[in-house]
Amino acid sequence: MVKNQKLCVIGLGFVGLPLGTTFAELGFAVTGIDASPRVKESLKQGRAHFAESGLQELLDRVLGKSFHVADAVEKGAHDIYIIAVGTPIDDSTKEPMMEYVEGASRTIGKALKKGDLVIMRSTVPIGTTRKIVLPLLEEESGLTGGKDFDLVFAPERLVSGKALIELKELPQIIGGYKGEKDVVRASALFSTMTPFIVPVENLEAGEMGKLIDNTYRDLHFAYANQMARLAEKVGVDMTRLASDVNNGYKRNRIPTPSPGVGGICLKKDPYLLMYSGKEYGFHPFLTESAREMNAQMPLHVAERALVLLSAAGKEPSSSTVFVLGFAFKGKPVTSDTRDSPTTTVVQALQKAGCKVIGYDPVVPSDHLASLKVEPASIEEGFKRANAVIIMTNHPEFESLPIEKLIASMAKPAALLDGWHLFDPSLFREIPDFYYAGVGNN
Ligand SMILES: NC(=O)c1ccc[n+]([C@@H]2O[C@H](COP(=O)([O-])OP(=O)(O)OC[C@H]3O[C@@H](n4cnc5c(N)ncnc54)[C@H](O)[C@@H]3O)[C@@H](O)[C@H]2O)c1
Repeated sequence: MVKNQKLCVIGLGFVGLPLGTTFAELGFAVTGIDASPRVKESLKQGRAHFAESGLQELLDRVLGKSFHVADAVEKGAHDIYIIAVGTPIDDSTKEPMMEYVEGASRTIGKALKKGDLVIMRSTVPIGTTRKIVLPLLEEESGLTGGKDFDLVFAPERLVSGKALIELKELPQIIGGYKGEKDVVRASALFSTMTPFIVPVENLEAGEMGKLIDNTYRDLHFAYANQMARLAEKVGVDMTRLASDVNNGYKRNRIPTPSPGVGGICLKKDPYLLMYSGKEYGFHPFLTESAREMNAQMPLHVAERALVLLSAAGKEPSSSTVFVLGFAFKGKPVTSDTRDSPTTTVVQALQKAGCKVIGYDPVVPSDHLASLKVEPASIEEGFKRANAVIIMTNHPEFESLPIEKLIASMAKPAALLDGWHLFDPSLFREIPDFYYAGVGNN
């Protein structure tokens, strides 16, 4: 019986906690391990340390029952280990930092017994599971991979905000070290959770499959953003144009442009692919250009906001800018602020001398404080601001009484609608009011 097997999840972040608690609810005995005192403390008090739809309720149901948070991994106490630690990029070198993966591999290696299965779930450069994880597991355990224990790469492909739904809906890719017994074992585990399993050639295919997904998305969004920049020059509304050319024409799905492409995965995974390219002797230049295009967008937004202020006769040093949306995306709703384009916009505005005040429906105010942004309610923010920037498409922003809020602003004033939430024609006739969007004027 697969459910008799004891699971241990290393890393209880945006990936490990939803996964571990979902397996716990499915009937597995799950132990969660995290190196961060903040994470452990929060979980020991019964609180999820980030917002994810349904996660707190799930945690309430399983914590202390089938899901336990431990300080250390007990030797020989588990049958299946899942590595879900972070794989960030070094900001200066843009190269992956592998120390968390190395640490988790060593921790598991020390506890590993014959017959166990290790599942690598963190997103990594191609070759990591074979070249880094496997040797560390073998070194620490004295066991031989493929003979004494099994090893697979099984990527996480969910979007935060819909994690608990997608864990049960998305196909699970699995690439094995030996590609036989290991994949069968991991498939039996994931089949208790997901509708179907997609076995891929080997560990490297699994690792590359994950990177292909995210770099494709980054490229796709970069395409729309590039066209938005051109549309601004031409004087055409790119959001409307994308919708018009998609209308009834099934071959293409051109996305809506955006004020930046953020989030830990879409911003980081292109660098993991570029790093892999270097390792294997091929330069994936399309991926590089796409990343550059998307990385420019928040700076472009900040520049446009400063141009609007100038048109309104305001110096940055005497301007207050109200920023709405600090999470890296608005939909599905998340409190995740990692690699949020808003951070870049705020810092650029502050550097220019602006005072920035802000609001987000789910991001805690201490994040705003860490950016030196004063929290404000929506009504207060509009009243106090010389310019307003909408940075995410959070559902609350879509239903703002925008005309009333604009009427409450002292004129001259400006609005930059980064997500085209409102019809630009609403603003063009307002006296002393300056409007711009991403991909339209
Ligand atoms: N966030 C997402 O939506 C998402 C989606 C798909 C894939 N991924 C990938 O999954 C991996 C994890 O991402 P995340 O968003 O959950 O990261 P995270 O930073 O939220 O969580 C990782 C956790 O691992 C812990 N940790 C680090 N080293 C440890 C160790 N040696 N032992 C125990 N705990 C340790 C950290 O304290 C942290 O809480 C990354 O590779 C990421 O790229 C993330």
